[in-house]
Amino acid sequence: STSRFQICCIGAGYVGGPTMAIIAKKCPTIDVTVVDISQRRIDAWNSEADLPIYEPGLKEAVMNTRGKNLFFSTDIDGAIEKAHMIFVAVNTPTKKDGLGAGRAADLTYWELAARRIAKVAKSPKIIVEKSTVPIKTAEAILTVLNASGKTRFQVLSNPEFLAEGTAVRDLESPDRILIGGNLKDEDGTAAVEKLVDIYSHWVPRERIITTNVWSSELSKLVANFFLAQRVSSINAVSALCESSGADVDEVSTAVGLDSRIGSKFLKASVGFGGSCFQKDILNLVYLSESMGLKDIAEYFHWVVKMNDLQKERFVSRIIHGLFNTVTGKRIAILGFAFKKDTGDTRESAAISVCQRLVDERAHLDIYDPKVEESQIWQDISTASKMDRLELEKLIHISSSPYGAAQGSHALVVCTEWDEFQDLDFEKILSIMEKPAFIFDGRNILNHEYLRKLGFVVYAIGKPLDPRLNVV
Ligand code: NAI
Repeated sequence: STSRFQICCIGAGYVGGPTMAIIAKKCPTIDVTVVDISQRRIDAWNSEADLPIYEPGLKEAVMNTRGKNLFFSTDIDGAIEKAHMIFVAVNTPTKKDGLGAGRAADLTYWELAARRIAKVAKSPKIIVEKSTVPIKTAEAILTVLNASGKTRFQVLSNPEFLAEGTAVRDLESPDRILIGGNLKDEDGTAAVEKLVDIYSHWVPRERIITTNVWSSELSKLVANFFLAQRVSSINAVSALCESSGADVDEVSTAVGLDSRIGSKFLKASVGFGGSCFQKDILNLVYLSESMGLKDIAEYFHWVVKMNDLQKERFVSRIIHGLFNTVTGKRIAILGFAFKKDTGDTRESAAISVCQRLVDERAHLDIYDPKVEESQIWQDISTASKMDRLELEKLIHISSSPYGAAQGSHALVVCTEWDEFQDLDFEKILSIMEKPAFIFDGRNILNHEYLRKLGFVVYAIGKPLDPRLNVV
């Protein structure tokens, strides 16, 4: 009924879908409607089969609430009109063209959503900025909203800190909830309190922190910078390890035991991926530059540059390892998602690795337990200069790791899927060309055991296999 508190969320993606499913689950007295311009996405959220995104525990959460107090719809105007509170969780990718191209956030989708709200809203609304946006976005959005002059709006910043692959767990027990609002103003404070109320249904009050809007917006970008910086730092160290005989896992354990440093996010790898880290750091770079802080911008930028260098270093190891040429050689790619337990491939390191190897005219056979075949084609086609016909001569997608390994010269691990640790490597060795190489871009395999079996193994930041060709 209309007397119930109504939430609308614009954007039914990786953030909007799971976030709203958990709010609906934890707040049975609130109605939550998630809307999107994509009919296909909404249909998938409403389907009995696979939801549009894969997250452990998500399907259960959606099935238990959908049709009761959780709804998915393309009727954006209808949902806006009846909502008391509107979350905006649309995509904010890096701008491709124009001013700030390659760095600044593209706020087109955000602004379109705001203009829609301004056009449709007849009663006061609290707008919650869930998307990751540059500082001062809330202010700009408020200007757009108020221009209609029909009703009053409050804009809050409430960045999302969930990580893909653990979204449900992160939403159910977050480290903190951050709410930014205009706390100097009575209406602003009331709006903040309303959102605090909602989270208080399941999050301990001391974990809900409130700040001014700008601190909240900036904190999200800074949090992602710190996380990505740790990966780039340990990856820089991994190069040093390979040249010196030190072992990066031993180093990160020793370093991470310092409670000031901490052990998490210190795993060397082929590089970070995902839709957020690179985009948000480039956003910080752009913000710093536009404020005239060139050196600060450069400092931030190196975290992304180091990540690119690490991917390139990994590809070089493969090419040199395979006697300086991969042309015409078969290479099995294990894992295409940007990390385990997700089907998301945005900015996945696997895309760069595959694109580079295809450039060298290697034949790739790709296996991933969750990523759709069409997605792999789309990602590589977008990244590569070659056309689809050329790519089809070089790339095959397998539905099993053994199929991918069949007849290959090398196995390349790009994603840390648990199942790769349990593969039958004796069987794999027997179906591969010899010498059989493994390039473990995630350091998840038992390298000593694999070497005993007869594989030549390269692992990130580990003492080099004496049988590996290096230049
Ligand atoms: P997404 O691309 O999966 O979802 C965005 C959805 O918004 C799409 O389904 C799109 O069709 C829809 N949309 C765009 N414009 C619209 C409009 N005007 N009206 C209605 N629907 C519209 O993006 P994702 O990953 O959910 O990210 C959303 C925001 O959350 C981004 O700003 C991102 O930086 C941030 N974020 C993402 C995290 C992640 O792990 N993916 C984590 C934390 C924040």
